[in-house]
Amino acid sequence: MCGINGVVGLNNISEVLFEGIRNLEYRGYDSCGVALMNKKHLIVRKNIGGVEEIFHRENILSKKSRVGIAHTRWATHGTVTQENTHPFTSCDGAFAVVHNGILSNYRFLRDGLIGEGHQFDSDTDTEVIPHLLEKHYKECNDVELALVKTLNMLEGTFALAIISIYHPDQIFCARRESPLMLGIGDELKFVGSDFNAFIDYTKNAIIIGDGEYAILSRDSYVVKSYLTQKEVTKSITKIEWDNEAAKKGGYPHYMLKEIYEQPQTITTALELDSASLDELAGMIQKSENVYLVGVGTTFYVSKFSKYLFSSLAGQFIPAISSDEFTSLATVDKKTLVLTVSQSGETFDTISALKHAKSKGAKTAAIVNVMGSSISRLVDKVILQGSGPEICVISTKAAFTQMVIMMLLALRLGLKRKVLVRKEFDESLAALRELPGIIQSILNERSGFIHRVAHNYAKIKNWLYLGRGIYYPVALESALKMKEVAYVHAEGMSGGFLKHGTLAMVDDEVNTIVFTPPCGDKELYEATLRSVEEIRARSGFVFGIHFNEKGRNKGLFNEELILPNVSPLVAPLIQLVIGQLFAYFTATSLKRNIDKPRFLAKSVTVG
Ligand code: G6P
Repeated sequence: MCGINGVVGLNNISEVLFEGIRNLEYRGYDSCGVALMNKKHLIVRKNIGGVEEIFHRENILSKKSRVGIAHTRWATHGTVTQENTHPFTSCDGAFAVVHNGILSNYRFLRDGLIGEGHQFDSDTDTEVIPHLLEKHYKECNDVELALVKTLNMLEGTFALAIISIYHPDQIFCARRESPLMLGIGDELKFVGSDFNAFIDYTKNAIIIGDGEYAILSRDSYVVKSYLTQKEVTKSITKIEWDNEAAKKGGYPHYMLKEIYEQPQTITTALELDSASLDELAGMIQKSENVYLVGVGTTFYVSKFSKYLFSSLAGQFIPAISSDEFTSLATVDKKTLVLTVSQSGETFDTISALKHAKSKGAKTAAIVNVMGSSISRLVDKVILQGSGPEICVISTKAAFTQMVIMMLLALRLGLKRKVLVRKEFDESLAALRELPGIIQSILNERSGFIHRVAHNYAKIKNWLYLGRGIYYPVALESALKMKEVAYVHAEGMSGGFLKHGTLAMVDDEVNTIVFTPPCGDKELYEATLRSVEEIRARSGFVFGIHFNEKGRNKGLFNEELILPNVSPLVAPLIQLVIGQLFAYFTATSLKRNIDKPRFLAKSVTVG
């Protein structure tokens, strides 16, 4: 989960390299470095800090070069220091390498290389690669062959970009289980961790597969297998995303922009091919055993969906966090594993899928990023089309996945005859109202949420309560708060509170409660019982509830009253409030909104 970019062109590319690596910064932002080819010499500059800072401090844009590679790091092996920052070079300075992934046998390789006299400057796994290249090149005098020999010695995962003084007009790259693609422009060729690296210049991408390497020059490229060295024919993937969509467009942060894009992304989801959703619903129906799988936010999307399948389709489908899947799930040929992922590159989710596939299970995914590993791994993919999500914290992508799961559950409900056509149509009509409702909530309630968030920004502990489907809403809202504001927030089901956590309630723990519409009498009353339990212990409660015509006056210390909406979409409205509350708390605390500390958008390591 680092970002890799490489550019080769006819004229100076340092500015293009800068823009590309800056667009990948959401993948990791501990430190940044570049290697540029200057005639037949490598210029390497690297340091701790963000991309802009390093390019400015190291005066990189003043260097002229037609070939370069860059890296933005999210540390796994070795602390965040200048020495551990990529690129790494060989002892003789002939090779520079940037890497994303983890090499599991690096200690063994490193010991061997040190024994042969190589000198190491960092604690990273990556540094073995330039030394191996140097060693093999000395044996065969052929960079490509040295690369193939090196790749075949590496265990673990990698996406690599390499430049060498022996071929000053080329970039070499390779992949095993870490994302990597080429950008094929007329005047410029690119390699990138994803297409944000080059979307401003070309929409033609080639996805490098596992076990493949590529050699890029200004006017040509070739992709080969590093097992056979035979050429692999690749087709061009056209990127359908609009590059303007990846810009901030007047918003102070991508997170806010992406929250405001939700009406649009829901509309796109509602226009998804119904035959494709039907096919997936059919796969669920035919399977004996189905699991919903995701991790982090997408685990909460899965938990949310679990309630939808029970209530709309009468089928209980368990949700498992991807990282626990192998230990917990029982998988066979009659199993379907339905994964959810924004990036389509999350290591834990890919591992769960591979485990499922190895047992002969069918696999499916709802994914935002086209061409991503998960989208290519599964038997059936639904591309959600929510456009680039740049903020590290997922809002619009996760939200839209929930809407797609609603569509899927409704279709399954129809197939299983739990719903009749009229109910199905009414539900669809309610969903069609959702973009408009969210737009007006965003327009009319943001100011109020801002004020509440600002007033309570100093509170260090929050309990997030919800019952039924509002429980995953509470979990996901609490995760947003932790991720962006670094404030302790614990999502919990209302009923669970009295079994222990109630003991924590005092004037240092505030509660936020997501209340269902009062039409859902049982759930509504149960939720209010939890509120009473807290209030009886003088706890503070911020209630988010729907227009109840003056019922429960004075029950909440602070309240946000929402317009009455259909019970189907009510939890989604509450989630928008959870997103905004986290965002405004974080802005009050002056957090780094789009790039919070210690996080990365796509966690491609285990
Ligand atoms: C990382 C991110 C989380 C995200 C999770 C799953 O942990 O920091 O925000 O929810 O990965 O990502 P995915 O791309 O698979 O949805």
